[in-house]
Amino acid sequence: MLTNLPRGTNDILPGETERWQWVEEQFRVACRLYGYREIRTPVFEHTELFQRTVGESTDIVQKEMYTFTDRGGKSLTLRPEGTAGAARAYLEHSFYAEPQPVKLFYLGPMFRFERPQSGRYRQFHQYGVEVFGAADPAVDAEVIALARHFFQRLGLQGLQVHLNSIGCPTCRAEYRQLLAGYYQPLLPQLCEDCRGRFDRNVLRLLDCKVDVEYARTAPKLTDHLCADCQKHLETLGGYLRELGIAYELNPQLVRGLDYYTRTVFEIIDPTLGTQGTLIGGGRYDGLVEELGGKPTPGIGFAGGLERLLLILEKDPQRLPPATRLDVFLALLGSKFVPEGLRLLGRLRQAGLSADMDFLGRSLKGQLRYASKNQARFVALLGEEELSRGVVALKDMEQGGQVEVSIERLEKTLLERSNHR
Ligand code: HAM
Repeated sequence: MLTNLPRGTNDILPGETERWQWVEEQFRVACRLYGYREIRTPVFEHTELFQRTVGESTDIVQKEMYTFTDRGGKSLTLRPEGTAGAARAYLEHSFYAEPQPVKLFYLGPMFRFERPQSGRYRQFHQYGVEVFGAADPAVDAEVIALARHFFQRLGLQGLQVHLNSIGCPTCRAEYRQLLAGYYQPLLPQLCEDCRGRFDRNVLRLLDCKVDVEYARTAPKLTDHLCADCQKHLETLGGYLRELGIAYELNPQLVRGLDYYTRTVFEIIDPTLGTQGTLIGGGRYDGLVEELGGKPTPGIGFAGGLERLLLILEKDPQRLPPATRLDVFLALLGSKFVPEGLRLLGRLRQAGLSADMDFLGRSLKGQLRYASKNQARFVALLGEEELSRGVVALKDMEQGGQVEVSIERLEKTLLERSNHR
């Protein structure tokens, strides 16, 4: 039998899917409140899209993409993230011709060939937003506020916002030279990853988890921003203070994707160590142009749903109660099946979740099955009941049994279970 999952993938099972749906719904509601609309892009795109946007020098493009040649000879890649696809769709569907900004959100699977561990998988799911067509730092503040609002809806506290600016291509180019000058003499002492990244993207040395000390004493980009980038960061800081959003300026925060300009941020659960980054995001004012569009500013974020659920599951009280069956119909003999099916249909039409036995179980077996499925009520139907037009209704939560007319069963159940 072929019974093992590919490494780094997960089945999301009944019992878990309800929690996923709940978290996704909280995200949808938060996005709606902020005027964001859902977009669904394909799970694979032309490989070149990610090479051009995420960037040739990044770990994602260098070693993490699931790239394959299709039967038509085209190189395609399972999307490692959602921003590139959203930007492509923005151009493809001429969103630039509509009133700006265009505010989008998405939920869906992403794929990266990473070493799996708790909170890091090869197929994982992101929730994210992207805003195109607004350069004002008020939008940067809004996306951070949206993320905070979402986490508040989930009852999460103690999260930290880390903020930085990585400047624009002009001030960053100057800083890059300065940084290369700082690291050059240190090269022999640096870890292998840093030596590899030195030529590809020296900025990434700043977020190395090994050479932390060298990064701490390195020149800071925030001390070398041009006047416009400096002003953008200061204005954003002012807006966040205005909104009561505490943040930490973290000059080592550079992010692992090439498209960022100016604002970058992460929202972190400090108790979770290296997998504690719930959300990563930032501004990408050059991305649409890189894909052949007119210069169009943009900003967004994305977070991993698996990580979020890991945190939420630490305190099950935060999660919604498991879904349960409103009523289980226990039949005292197979000849009642036609009546049972008819009654089930009526209950379901009335909006009640209802089920019955399909295996010819004994009454005891049916009751056991009902209680395993957390049925709130069991309705017993046999010869005697049918002749009098009633069912015996057993309250599985509070105990007790009453007779209820079959005619009024939906009404009684809706009243007694406070169904909305
Ligand atoms: P990212 O930092 O690569 O950014 O990923 C964002 C989030 O996705 C991470 O903070 C983490 O929660 C989750 N994540 C990433 N890789 C994995 C994995 N292998 N397993 C589980 N979770 C993972 C981006 O993807 C950007 N597109 C974010 C963005 C949107 N920036 C602007 N707009």
